[in-house]
Amino acid sequence: MTPYTVIALVVALSLAQYAFLAAAAGPRVIIVGAGMSGISAGKRLSDAGITDLLILEATDHVGGRMHKQNFAGINVEVGANWVEGVNGGKMNPIWPIVNSTLKLRNFRSDFDYLAQNVYKEDGGLYDEDYVQKRIDLADSVEESGEKLSGTLHTSGRDDMSILAMQRLYDHQPNGPATPVDMSVDYYKYDYEFAEPPRVTSLQNTVPLPTFNDFGDDVYFVADQRGYESVVYYLAGQYLKTDKSGKIVDPRLKLNKVVREISYSPSGVTVKTEDNSVYRADYVMVSASLGVLQSDLIQFKPQLPSWKVVAIYQFDMAVYTKIFVKFPKRFWPEGKGREFFLYASSRRGYYAAWQEFEKQYPGANVLLVTVTDEESRRIEQQSDNQTKAEIMEGHLLQLANWCEPLRV
Ligand SMILES: Cc1cc2nc3c(=O)[nH]c(=O)nc-3n(C[C@H](O)[C@H](O)[C@H](O)COP(=O)(O)OP(=O)(O)OC[C@H]3O[C@@H](n4cnc5c(N)ncnc54)[C@H](O)[C@@H]3O)c2cc1C
Ligand SMILES: *[C@@H]1O[C@H](CO)[C@@H](O)[C@H](O)[C@H]1NC(C)=O
Ligand SMILES: *[C@@H]1O[C@H](CO)[C@@H](O)[C@H](O)[C@H]1NC(C)=O
Repeated sequence: MTPYTVIALVVALSLAQYAFLAAAAGPRVIIVGAGMSGISAGKRLSDAGITDLLILEATDHVGGRMHKQNFAGINVEVGANWVEGVNGGKMNPIWPIVNSTLKLRNFRSDFDYLAQNVYKEDGGLYDEDYVQKRIDLADSVEESGEKLSGTLHTSGRDDMSILAMQRLYDHQPNGPATPVDMSVDYYKYDYEFAEPPRVTSLQNTVPLPTFNDFGDDVYFVADQRGYESVVYYLAGQYLKTDKSGKIVDPRLKLNKVVREISYSPSGVTVKTEDNSVYRADYVMVSASLGVLQSDLIQFKPQLPSWKVVAIYQFDMAVYTKIFVKFPKRFWPEGKGREFFLYASSRRGYYAAWQEFEKQYPGANVLLVTVTDEESRRIEQQSDNQTKAEIMEGHLLQLANWCEPLRV
């Protein structure tokens, strides 16, 4: 053995010892929730040398609202589907993971042809030039709103709803009101924010930092491994996995529903539904606003009122993706046909549609998105009722109209 290797060995040994001591001396952190936030938080802590972690997840899987589900023989995304904000000045950190590392199948969504694809309530398409003019008008109102937004005090004290801004610039007391204008409005705002312009903050969404920073493009992920594989990938950076990629690290505990968090200057105690008790120096809670607004997790003592008020200030928005499969295709496909709108006289009634010629070829599946009040209503009814509603509108007309063409 040369002296050099001995020295190297001694250094390595003392480093190992140091790492051991650092881990033991570092804080123990419990993370509630193993969705994108919780798993990312664990990675950040781990990268910073804080490795004494415990992640408690209520369900039997990681990923949370990034989740695939088998539907009619294909895996579709029931939660997040798009990488939002690509091709801009800064790199969206998710994008290289999706497009380079994991190479998840993805497709840029092109909304430029929407004007050709707006259906009347009783079937048939609206005139493209007419729709384009209404889109241009809505875009110019939004541009004025963006300028206004830039002048508002950064504290948010002057913030207003998008609808208030629209009233200011389009002089209609109720905002967009015709079926076409409502469907364009729905596409521009509700389809992105899951809530109507009446309750959506101007300052926080126009412009939307995601698009401002990372670019205007959005890419639809349609990969049989699921968009959730991004979360598994991040988890695999610091949690032990077996050969098949399954997370086997004891620091991740699944099926642990956190019900109580007691905290004091000396640390935290976390209790789960199955009466397990965990102690730590800190806890990070990544459960959704919806969970925090319910009394599912009891904080002892109660959270300070400024925090409670902040939690109650916001709505847990509801965004429902309804996939429908047909025995055969009766809708148009080809360039510019992917996205279509149904211009109902009832705002947000099965308004936004997508076909999957490229993503799921031959599957004959369509996606219709509903949000907010329509979501709450539809989620209460049977699937059969929903199917019947879907087939009453333009789709029935489209199906009837296309049938003779096929014969
Ligand atoms: C239908 C839908 C479509 C979407 N589309 C997009 C999109 O296209 N692009 C995009 O960027 N974003 C989209 N989003 C938003 C995106 O999915 C979320 O912002 C993101 O996944 C949230 O991650 P999170 O970790 O903050 O929360 P979650 O994913 O909700 O993770 C929280 C985790 O905590 C767990 N948990 C909750 N309560 C407890 C408890 N008491 N004890 C233990 N664990 C608990 C939950 O089970 C969950 O796993 C969409 C969301 C939905 C619902
Ligand atoms: C995604 O990756 C592909 C293949 O490497 C590449 O050709 C393409 O330019 C990438 N897309 C973007 C928007 O970066
Ligand atoms: C839904 O409709 C199908 C076909 O019409 C029928 O077989 C099924 O029983 C219905 N389901 C419910 C829950 O009503």
